[in-house]
Amino acid sequence: MMSGTLVNTPNRFGLITRLLHWATAIAVLGLLVLGTYIARMQVNLSNLWLFGLHKSIGVTALLLTLLRIAWHIWTPPPPPLPDARWRIALARAVHRAIYALLLLTPIFGWAASSATGLDVVVFNRWTLPAMAPVSEAWETALFLIHRVLATTLAVLIVVHVAGALTRRDGTLWRMIWGRPVPPHGA
Ligand code: HEM
Ligand code: HEM
Repeated sequence: MMSGTLVNTPNRFGLITRLLHWATAIAVLGLLVLGTYIARMQVNLSNLWLFGLHKSIGVTALLLTLLRIAWHIWTPPPPPLPDARWRIALARAVHRAIYALLLLTPIFGWAASSATGLDVVVFNRWTLPAMAPVSEAWETALFLIHRVLATTLAVLIVVHVAGALTRRDGTLWRMIWGRPVPPHGA
């Protein structure tokens, strides 16, 4: 019973997949807002912690995504509920692209941060290895890539949420409660 609710089955999203989905969603929405905010600031001693916070949540999002991919290899999520062929194909393509960006965006953020010469320290505790040479040219190029990736991710999330909200077949309920609860309660 317990394991039946934790893992995915052919018609249910298990609890672990749902927690990973919503934790990632909250983290990513926060990162998009916080990233845009810090990118507009002049770094100084009093706001440096906001950069540290963005980096820490960003590395957490990367870890959650690695965990999620491993988890889905171990226990595959259910196939989509029936829908128009083009919508199923679009949803699958968007999911794959989102997964790729959930990996690439933080990796490039980490590399770009390394290029500044500052250590990337996660939650004031774990210092990550540098991923790029310390150089202004690298810093500029890598932050530009980080920004393009993050913007693309934001656009795909809009498409993804629009797709989820325009379905009336229990798809959204299935990602919240596991089962496709009928739209009108019951
Ligand atoms: C904000 C960041 C978000 C990210 C990065 C994200 C990412 C993903 C990914 C990658 C999947 C595919 C899961 C799988 O492997 O099967 C998925 C599924 C899903 N997401 Fe999101 N999501 C986000 C936000 C949301 C929001 C806000 C909603 C609701 C309005 C939502 C609703 C759903 C639903 C219903 C599914 C299941 C689709 C199905 O049954 O095939 N997601 N999401
Ligand atoms: C899924 C994860 C992440 C998302 C969605 C994200 C998103 C963003 C966004 C939207 C910006 C603003 C870009 C701009 O307008 O120029 C930004 C900036 C930034 N990000 Fe991330 N980020 C993520 C992960 C990371 C990670 C892991 C690091 C470092 C370890 C990082 C370091 C930075 C820094 C330092 C900036 C400020 C750049 C500047 O001052 O111009 N990010 N991020």
